[in-house]
Amino acid sequence: MKIMIINGPNLNLLGIREPDKYGNVTFEAYYIYLKEKFPEILIEHCQSNVEGELINFLHNAGFSYTGIILNAGAYTHTSIAIGDAVSAIKTPVIEVHLTNVFAREEFRHNSFISKHAKGVICGFGLKSYALAIESFF
Ligand code: DQA
Repeated sequence: MKIMIINGPNLNLLGIREPDKYGNVTFEAYYIYLKEKFPEILIEHCQSNVEGELINFLHNAGFSYTGIILNAGAYTHTSIAIGDAVSAIKTPVIEVHLTNVFAREEFRHNSFISKHAKGVICGFGLKSYALAIESFF
């Protein structure tokens, strides 16, 4: 089983960025934990702050991986192009968010990704990623 985690804008700052919302653990530290927790799965990770690069990541993983876990950050709420990319690929995509976007500002309630995703997990902090991996078992 091969899973690609794709993180979007500002998620490179996890651990530093608004720790009251996103916690104080870096994604790099959590990624090490995830690989130890699921030793039988090949888990890869990429991150970009650039919309088009996220689309390229989706195309690259979207025909050969078992699953993609996508946290598109704020592009979730603005990017028709990322939604189209999720729709265009064959690999199932789980949309994740650390925070419960429905308990936040109204502009975060819309997602251009959800309708093309296999499922959506939000509100469990970094654990949202582990729950998304478990959904593939
Ligand atoms: C986020 C939620 C988005 O609304 C926000 O823009 C982010 C992070 C989350 O993981 O909770 O950058 O995707």
